[in-house]
Amino acid sequence: MMKSKILEILEKNGSYVSGEEISKELGVSRAAVWKHIKKLRELDYEIESKTNEGYKLIKTPDRQIQFELERMLNTKIIGHKILFLEEIDSTNNKAKQIAFESQDGDVVVSETQHSGRGRRGREWHSPKGGIYISFILKPNISPERAPQITLLSSVALVETLNSMKSKMNAKIKWPNDILISGRKISGILTELSSDMEKINYVVVGIGINLNTDLEDLPEKAASLKVEMDQEISVKLFLKSFFEHYDTVYQEYLNNGIDQIIEKWKKNSDTLGKNVKIIGINETYDGLAKDIDENGALILKTKDKEIKVYSGDVSLR
Ligand code: BTN
Repeated sequence: MMKSKILEILEKNGSYVSGEEISKELGVSRAAVWKHIKKLRELDYEIESKTNEGYKLIKTPDRQIQFELERMLNTKIIGHKILFLEEIDSTNNKAKQIAFESQDGDVVVSETQHSGRGRRGREWHSPKGGIYISFILKPNISPERAPQITLLSSVALVETLNSMKSKMNAKIKWPNDILISGRKISGILTELSSDMEKINYVVVGIGINLNTDLEDLPEKAASLKVEMDQEISVKLFLKSFFEHYDTVYQEYLNNGIDQIIEKWKKNSDTLGKNVKIIGINETYDGLAKDIDENGALILKTKDKEIKVYSGDVSLR
């Protein structure tokens, strides 16, 4: 369809594309291009036009993103059902509310959150421009292995980011922050519902500073729009992320965590460094040597080797 072809060109470009370029690429007249742009606007696509510059896609309506994404996705498990919202308290809360009637791989996405939650009871500031995602997963694994789901999630995200631009250099900071040029671009909050033997569900919440303006972010944070120097299409980003996630998740279900740990280590920003870990009651200093199969950090302190299960890392 001509309308979706035009949208594709505008989405890929992220900035102004002239009517002439579009008409050449699609082999139709400029008047025809204009007519389709008008139709798209009637469907609530916000498209700006500027003399001498052309057209720029400002915003795709939410119901269209959900619909197009579900149709475009090339995945086996992730995103068969996507709930796409404009605003919510927290996508993790929503995901937990609907978890029992959901299937493995269903996703909740929101454009803002008014009570976004971070690790260790912190708030996760969730302004417009960012994207807030919760995966509902029902892997058939024992509850002790649940932390591995967080490991695979950071691998999927870091691989998505590094596939966007060759010099992106996205890294994982233990336990599960994603950094670009040393600045945090994303955080992960995994929540588990289980009994002693069996997992009911895992909710993996991921907040990403996608098109966030730097003035809306804490000082040491990064935004993908700023790194890429262009507005990022929410739809195309989610497509790529969900497809990477699907691949890694399937690999995990079929072959276990070993390969994923290797990838985690390859992309780690923490291993091999001298760090200070601020835990809940204690702090530890030492060399970050390795992680174990559940993501616990193996730290070589002055006099012994210890395992640290959670905390915040700072460099020494
Ligand atoms: C952290 O680094 O502290 C983790 C932040 C996790 C934020 C995400 S945004 C989507 C999901 N919903 C929430 O309320 N939190 C997670």
